[in-house]
Amino acid sequence: MVNFTQETTSATLTIGDRVIELPLVVGTEGEVAIDIRQLRQQTDGVAINGNLVPGGVISFDPGYKNTGSCQSEITYINGEEGILRYRGYNIADLAKKGYRFIDVAMLIIFGELPTAAERANFRDLLTHNELLDEDMRKFFDSLPPHGDPMAILSAAVQCSSLYNPELRAIDPADPEGFTLAAAKLLSKVRTIAAFSYKKAIGQPIRYPNPELDYVRNFLHMMFSIPNKPYHASETEVDALNLFLTLHADHEQNCSTSTVRMVGSSKANLFDSASSGISALAGPLHGGANIAVVNMLEKVSREETTVNELIGLAKSKKIKLPGFGHRLYKKYDPRARIIKQKVDKLLGELNHDAPLFTIAQQLEEIALTDDYFIAKRLYPNVDFYSGIMLRAIGIPVNMFTVMFAMARMAGWIAQWREEMLTPGAAIQRPRQVYTGAPERTIDWEMGI
Ligand code: CMC
Repeated sequence: MVNFTQETTSATLTIGDRVIELPLVVGTEGEVAIDIRQLRQQTDGVAINGNLVPGGVISFDPGYKNTGSCQSEITYINGEEGILRYRGYNIADLAKKGYRFIDVAMLIIFGELPTAAERANFRDLLTHNELLDEDMRKFFDSLPPHGDPMAILSAAVQCSSLYNPELRAIDPADPEGFTLAAAKLLSKVRTIAAFSYKKAIGQPIRYPNPELDYVRNFLHMMFSIPNKPYHASETEVDALNLFLTLHADHEQNCSTSTVRMVGSSKANLFDSASSGISALAGPLHGGANIAVVNMLEKVSREETTVNELIGLAKSKKIKLPGFGHRLYKKYDPRARIIKQKVDKLLGELNHDAPLFTIAQQLEEIALTDDYFIAKRLYPNVDFYSGIMLRAIGIPVNMFTVMFAMARMAGWIAQWREEMLTPGAAIQRPRQVYTGAPERTIDWEMGI
């Protein structure tokens, strides 16, 4: 905690004929924000270059690179130092201790790691709610073959709530109702993800098995067929738990901000989460893990080379997928953990690893290249995660779906925080209009 003296509790802004004081907001770890909530009010009617500005001035920050949209108690990132913590716990420690994804999801959603009894109760809720309404099968049947799994996931998450109307009206302040909704969403998203895959490959849907834990159950629904059960190895289960844990939350990224923005209109949890899935699908966000593997495969097929890719990135013809991050100006801590795990995993599973070798070559060249050094571009979480998922047997078009399953934990927690923030207003940014000044219709002109 940083203690600020009396003199440093506000910022002074001189604008036109006015000097105003703007208070500072200081976070637990000493992050400082200038509170501009009263900016328009304080600058209403200010004279700038002799012109009065009615309504006051606003801030301008497209892409929100310098804007805090909320105060949050969930996740802390220090991008300069490469630190990521969920509810105060370092991600590296959570990974090292080998927590299962559901423990970490409970930490993120409810604020504490679960006791054995809490874990057992929540697991029961997940199991009781793992089935989709049988009518939802018609939904899957009506989809074209090879449909985009992220589009299916987004639509199906929203549709699934229609079969439980009470889910569309939960009170985020009611612990019991919220816990049930959180369990239903976490459980159903896993079933929907697996069903959409089965549908895409033309195999019969596999129902969940109540004997299995979260990750094993998912792998069962993905890979077993009626005449051949699937047994996931401990190595694969561990790897998938780690993947889900590392992707479970990441503060106010594009999809999470989307969830909070949609939720700020008092939209329900399922509709808000569905919007988050759509935002995550983009190649600059969660879709980057697919772009990375496609790129590495092109190199392995000798359609391009690592040097050519670096050249294209430097000449700004492409953004190298899996590199760079809005917050991390050091190695993304998630990427470091995944890279170590991939190395071990490939050995344990006895997998041929040409893509891992190419990825490491690419990383080595990038990290010693002047352009990447100057712009502080390091591998992000998506750089090695696709290789990890591939080794577990997850098909490429399901990579971003896996990201969404994990991030559901964060979206649930962030949606609730948004809903329970005292005095939270609907999110509604302003703009600076740069279009035509007022024009008059030519009444003589024919239509
Ligand atoms: N390759 C080449 N140049 C890059 C890259 C890259 N991957 N990323 C950023 N730059 C350059 C960019 O051109 C810009 O240069 P300049 O200052 O000359 O204009 C500078 O670095 C700053 O980049 P930016 O685009 O302004 O940074 P941003 O914070 O707006 O974007 C990013 C962050 C992740 C969208 C971007 O780095 C990117 O597109 N990376 C590739 C896609 C990717 O891997 N996305 C996954 C992100 S991690 C998972 C997640 O959170 O979704």
